[in-house]
Amino acid sequence: MALNLAVLLSGNGTTLQNLVDRIDRGELSARVTCVVSSRQDAYGIERARRHGIPAVVVNRKDFASSADFNAALWRTVRQHPVDFVALAGFMSLLEVPKDFAGRILNVHPALIPAFCGKGMYGHYVHEAVLAYGAKLTGATVHFVDDQYDHGPIILQASVPVLDDDTPDSLAARVQTCERELFPRAIQLIAEGRVHIEGRRVRID
Ligand code: GAR
Repeated sequence: MALNLAVLLSGNGTTLQNLVDRIDRGELSARVTCVVSSRQDAYGIERARRHGIPAVVVNRKDFASSADFNAALWRTVRQHPVDFVALAGFMSLLEVPKDFAGRILNVHPALIPAFCGKGMYGHYVHEAVLAYGAKLTGATVHFVDDQYDHGPIILQASVPVLDDDTPDSLAARVQTCERELFPRAIQLIAEGRVHIEGRRVRID
């Protein structure tokens, strides 16, 4: 059965684009029923509209508190049929409503629990990996709880860090990895093969 997905983003939207392309190619049993952006200027909104997907801005800057922002965000999401929520470069802290626990996914461009947490997103992650001298990094798809990059891990894959890497070259290698991992995790969920057991995730 096709999963109804809400995609939450704050930026360029290449993660959204990848999901939509895979759905169009019949590689992912899902449909994106809405896109919500926490920033007015996110290019991801344009990508959504081009595909005829309803796209709404719930601008973090318009809200004094995280609680008010989250209330507006979830009101918007609930106006659409949504089985799962996919965070695709969503850069605000999400408060997880009880009925969405275990139904929100994030992709992080590192091997959690390394190089993650508040302030660790986008290029900051790859800069930190290079500064530390790690030899491996990668991508993680995980369930979202109320802490940054913290919920149970569904899939991880690693890539090497090369001697002559720059943050950009490393980001490109990690993104190639993300582009495979995120749709694969969503497809496993669509097939009913993903089970949360405490902090661990079992895949049938
Ligand atoms: C992605 O590379 C994703 O891994 C990262 O933001 C990028 C979003 O790009 N997410 C995080 O850092 C989450 N902590 P996009 O806007 O082009 O999809």
